[in-house]
Amino acid sequence: MISRRITVTIKAFSLLWALVRPAVADDYRPAFHFCPAENWMNEPNGLIKINSTWHLFYQADPTANEWGNECWGHATSSDLLHWDHLPVAIPVEDGIQSFTGTSYYDSNNTSGLGTSANPPYLAFFTGYDPANNGTQDQRLASSTDLGKTWVKFPDNPIIGIAQEAPHDISGGLESRDPKVFFHVPSGKWVMVLGHGGQDKLTFWTSSDTKSWTWVSDLASSQIQGFPSDITGWEVPDMFQLPIEGTNETTWVLIFTPAQGSPPGGNGVVALTGSFDGKTFVADPVDPSTLWLDYGRDFDGALSWENVPESDGRRIIAAVMNSYGSSPPTTTWKGLLSFPRTLTLKQIGSKQYFLQQPVTELSKVDSSLASIQNQTITPDQTLLSSVHGTSLDIRVAFHIDSGATLSLAVRKGGSEQTVIRYSQSNSTLSVDRTASGDISYDPAAGGVHSAQLAQDNTELVHIWALVDTCSVEVFGGQGEAVISDLIFPSSTSDGLSLEVTGGTATLQSVEVYSVSL
Ligand SMILES: *[C@@H]1O[C@H](CO)[C@@H](O)[C@H](O)[C@H]1NC(C)=O
Ligand SMILES: *[C@@H]1O[C@H](CO)[C@@H](O)[C@H](O)[C@H]1NC(C)=O
Ligand SMILES: *[C@@H]1O[C@H](CO)[C@@H](O)[C@H](O)[C@H]1NC(C)=O
Ligand SMILES: *[C@@H]1O[C@H](CO)[C@@H](O)[C@H](O)[C@H]1NC(C)=O
Ligand SMILES: *[C@@H]1O[C@H](CO)[C@@H](O)[C@H](O)[C@H]1NC(C)=O
Ligand SMILES: *[C@@H]1O[C@H](CO)[C@@H](O)[C@H](O)[C@H]1NC(C)=O
Ligand SMILES: *[C@@H]1O[C@H](CO)[C@@H](O)[C@H](O)[C@H]1NC(C)=O
Repeated sequence: MISRRITVTIKAFSLLWALVRPAVADDYRPAFHFCPAENWMNEPNGLIKINSTWHLFYQADPTANEWGNECWGHATSSDLLHWDHLPVAIPVEDGIQSFTGTSYYDSNNTSGLGTSANPPYLAFFTGYDPANNGTQDQRLASSTDLGKTWVKFPDNPIIGIAQEAPHDISGGLESRDPKVFFHVPSGKWVMVLGHGGQDKLTFWTSSDTKSWTWVSDLASSQIQGFPSDITGWEVPDMFQLPIEGTNETTWVLIFTPAQGSPPGGNGVVALTGSFDGKTFVADPVDPSTLWLDYGRDFDGALSWENVPESDGRRIIAAVMNSYGSSPPTTTWKGLLSFPRTLTLKQIGSKQYFLQQPVTELSKVDSSLASIQNQTITPDQTLLSSVHGTSLDIRVAFHIDSGATLSLAVRKGGSEQTVIRYSQSNSTLSVDRTASGDISYDPAAGGVHSAQLAQDNTELVHIWALVDTCSVEVFGGQGEAVISDLIFPSSTSDGLSLEVTGGTATLQSVEVYSVSL
């Protein structure tokens, strides 16, 4: 009883507060996505699960709300939902910044950086020295306290500019973002490096994680069907994934090209292929299944390493913000996409990467509206009495030939962000043209689209996460994903569900409020 009365009081206070505060008093701070406590972040780094703790490191400028003084910010979570902010894990030192990289568990202490009690966790990152001609070299740090604190290897760099130079057009000024893992069949450590504006990755091997040998290049021209306008490859990740519906496992390589994504600018591509410990041989690419996301705001994706086999998920996250310091948030900049599982599946004649929000989300959902087995006609508007700014919305429907279903979120006054499915061209889209503030960047508005075929029962699934300043839309089984930032007024909290050009049969509509 007491707790209910407190809740009612808090609700009344919140309502009052909502009426008196300025529209962006909360500075668009998301409710269930990670963002820094203050200042700048760009892509995630070193994602690793250690015992029951999910570690998130990320490129941070702890001193300003813009890119610069880059180091590894740090946060931990027990459930991928609630994050604790921790001190910087790998700081700027002697003017050398700590750029992007990855972490791995050295269970056999092959680095010799462990103690007899604890084999070490290793972090590989790029050192960037603006005072020394902008040199980028590869460095190592280790942790023997389960990832809480990190010590830089005294003999850094582990790959210096002289060793990089023959394999990098810029002479080693653009070699970065090491992905490192232990390759069991060859018994060697493998590093994959990006090369700034170049359209290639390099592969290196090591038996002790400290001295490295170049072994191969993977260039755009070596990948059959890879479009030549997808350039400037960065932030590689590499791991194995089972192919659902078969008994096979394949190697997967993901990276973030700086140019050539469907909405323009950077985005994340995923390849499959074989790997013998030295050379990645990519399977021929189908450009229609290459991109993990068709929105503007999913870049620099990495996956969590060291997830126990009993869990078995490959979970990825990326930064949502591809407009530098332009977005209208004043106390923080950049947020982490909601963590997603990544799987591979044959659907019809094509192999797709599928992404879905992690199921932990259901623990913090509370139902706002539910519809079952209802036909919607063009004269009807559903969900107009539902309000919320942090939502989990799941819709499954059959739709007439030629009809379009439109789900508007963050609706109020003249503002709305519209998620549409058009049957005639099998297109899922997110329309930001009236989403709120789109003046901060020329790429902040517009419509982003992805192809989404109806399944074999002609049912269409749309799963949308809405959180204050973001929308992430997962179509079908997760083969069509669109992630975008939006900056509506805080009072634009309405919803609507409508159909045009025919009717739709809603098998189910579930709207949940998400709050931690
Ligand atoms: C962490 O996990 C390892 C491996 O399962 C186990 O040996 C160790 O005792 C755990 N440490 C803590 C502090 O829980
Ligand atoms: C790890 O290697 C270092 C250096 O060889 C050694 O001192 C330490 O005892 C090793 N720890 C384990 C658990 O093997
Ligand atoms: C700095 O880099 C440029 C190429 O980008 C090179 O020509 C020049 O020699 C370098 N300077 C030093 C001091 O290394
Ligand atoms: C550790 O050694 C075992 C036994 O040789 C091997 O199976 C395993 O892959 C090694 N793992 C790492 C990370 O070195
Ligand atoms: C996978 O392996 C199992 C057990 O060996 C076998 O029964 C099954 O037919 C295989 N499935 C496919 C799709 O090959
Ligand atoms: C909705 O329709 C399906 C298929 O006809 C049926 O299985 C299900 O029980 C119905 N659900 C409700 C809540 O009526
Ligand atoms: C798909 O069809 C809809 C409805 O006719 C149209 O508004 C939209 O522009 C089309 N999208 C694409 C990508 O062709």
